[in-house]
Amino acid sequence: MSPSPPPATTVTKAVIPAAGLGTRFLPATKAMPKEMLPVVDRPAIQYVVEEAAGAGLSDLLVITGRNKRPLEDHFDHAWELEEALTRKGDEGRLRSVRESTALAAIHYVRQGTPAGLGHAVLCAQQHVGDEPFAVLLGDDLIDPRDPLLTRMIEVRERFGGSVVALMETDPASIHLYGCAAVEPTAQDDVVRLTDLVEKPAPGQAPSAYAVIGRYLLDPAVFEVLRRTPPGHGGEIQLTDALRELAHGGAASPGGPVHGVLFTGRRYDTGDRAEYLRTIVRLAYEHDDLGPGFREWLTAFVDAEREAPTAAADGGPGVAA
Ligand code: UTP
Repeated sequence: MSPSPPPATTVTKAVIPAAGLGTRFLPATKAMPKEMLPVVDRPAIQYVVEEAAGAGLSDLLVITGRNKRPLEDHFDHAWELEEALTRKGDEGRLRSVRESTALAAIHYVRQGTPAGLGHAVLCAQQHVGDEPFAVLLGDDLIDPRDPLLTRMIEVRERFGGSVVALMETDPASIHLYGCAAVEPTAQDDVVRLTDLVEKPAPGQAPSAYAVIGRYLLDPAVFEVLRRTPPGHGGEIQLTDALRELAHGGAASPGGPVHGVLFTGRRYDTGDRAEYLRTIVRLAYEHDDLGPGFREWLTAFVDAEREAPTAAADGGPGVAA
């Protein structure tokens, strides 16, 4: 897909938290951030950086943790590799290696302790200053064909305050997310938040709307985060700070909070099963790998239907 030029926007800064422990993905994430796990042919976080740059956000701050090295190296020049590829005349691979360094100005700050998403966002205060900013979770991918961030920026320009992205989720999964109580606005895809609950207990969810990993925040959120005590899981939750902004409405600095109802394609690569589905989907549609992969996948599924390996062996099959 050839990228169109980024739109001119009132928001230029984005924060990408990537300092979580990634416990759902252990042991793969023991020595490597989950944001660096490959999704087809590049690490998950590269898609997120491409999305931010595509929406006109040119100044990115990545919140890193104890395994920050691979993240920084990926977006930096790799001189030895570039020289070797230049010597070989391998233009295609050289381009792919250089691509990640040219996307945006990327800065890093370290979150000493992974004390929660709210705490990770607070680590960005000095860099962000007094401007509205976007937050993109580093393991949450939005398909570039469904430009969510651009719509969120429009909504902030129209309503002010802060904006979250909401997705309708089935009741069995809502306890995994922050969940929003909402009321309608004059725009079909925009709602006003009246309440927010982090990971509601079964039966306690105020709606089916889950908060997904894109936010457009007013800088007033930093002051709220400063005094937000640890919440669910003993972590400082961004949801708790946003709840305060939502309760205050237009009267509170940083409020009101609106939600964009997203119906596009989202891939949560921090969850093992969803990670596998993401890779299959994106490989299936890939310009270069797609045709061969589709052929193999179809043959594989047909063969499995005929003679299921997993059922026969009593466990997952291993390719020879
Ligand atoms: P998650 O809750 O998905 O990340 O946070 P996690 O804690 O690493 O996940 P599990 O449950 O242990 O597998 C959402 C995003 O916020 C970042 C994560 O890196 C992820 O991108 N995060 C979370 C931080 O940067 N710091 C934190 O303290 C917590």
